[in-house]
Amino acid sequence: MARKIVLTSGKGGVGKTTVCANLGMALANRSQRVVAVDLDVGLNNLDVALGLDNRVVFDLVDVLENRCRIKQALLKVDNVPTFFVMPSCHQSVRMFTCENVKRIIQRLDEQFDYVLIDCPAGMDAGFIRAVNCADEALVVCTPHLSAVRDADKVVRYLATLSPFSVGVVVNRVRGDLVAQGKMLSPMEVFALLGQKPLGIVADDDEINCFGQTSANPFVILADNLHFGTQKLLDVVTPYKNFWTRLFRR
Ligand SMILES: Nc1ncnc2c1ncn2[C@@H]1O[C@H](COP(=O)(O)OP(=O)(O)OP(=O)(O)O)[C@@H](O)[C@H]1O
Ligand SMILES: [Mg+2]
Repeated sequence: MARKIVLTSGKGGVGKTTVCANLGMALANRSQRVVAVDLDVGLNNLDVALGLDNRVVFDLVDVLENRCRIKQALLKVDNVPTFFVMPSCHQSVRMFTCENVKRIIQRLDEQFDYVLIDCPAGMDAGFIRAVNCADEALVVCTPHLSAVRDADKVVRYLATLSPFSVGVVVNRVRGDLVAQGKMLSPMEVFALLGQKPLGIVADDDEINCFGQTSANPFVILADNLHFGTQKLLDVVTPYKNFWTRLFRR
């Protein structure tokens, strides 16, 4: 049986799809069978993030409306034999009911070790639908008060669904700004949200799905999820020096 993890945030544009794609890659590189399901209906980005958008023939709606089998809609990520993507459709459709989507996720559950669910922003029907299909959540948050406030609303909602395991990933951390006291530190974000710290990702223009290294923040995140390790990337210490201390004063 697969671990079904929804990547959610409340606020839009904080990195759910980026984390979903890179985490999927890191877990697959640990020999896990991973499928990432794009439930951001109408704004499908996951296939784009993984460079697969030109290969989409069938999508989740074709599966829901019985135009193809699940296997036909799944896209295999290049050079990663155990990582697949279920693309979302380009427009909103009636077939996207909670029960229909859950039925598809349950069938994927039999064939994979991890089902990662890319959730839309906000907390409306699309969010409820995505959360409904999972039994764990990764709340992605940036170190900005507006993002933390929205993530807190999501965390409070998820708390009503217990048993539901919730972990937090702080994305787009600027170590230089944290060292100068101009940005919330990841530890402050974890403390504000009161949930399990699972990962820290620096703000990095190079972040995409094609440049994986062993020191990658997503490798650490995957290990924390899969092996239960509690490592966190230190993105601040390299910036702590005489000048930043002087600046803080
Ligand atoms: N750690 C990072 N460093 C630099 N850029 C990042 C990082 N994480 C995400 N981004 C960029 O931020 C933008 C938004 O990311 P992404 O699409 O993953 O967010 P999202 O939460 O899925 O958005 P939406 O709510 O619209 O679905 C993208 O251009 C992505 O490349
Ligand atoms: Mg997204």
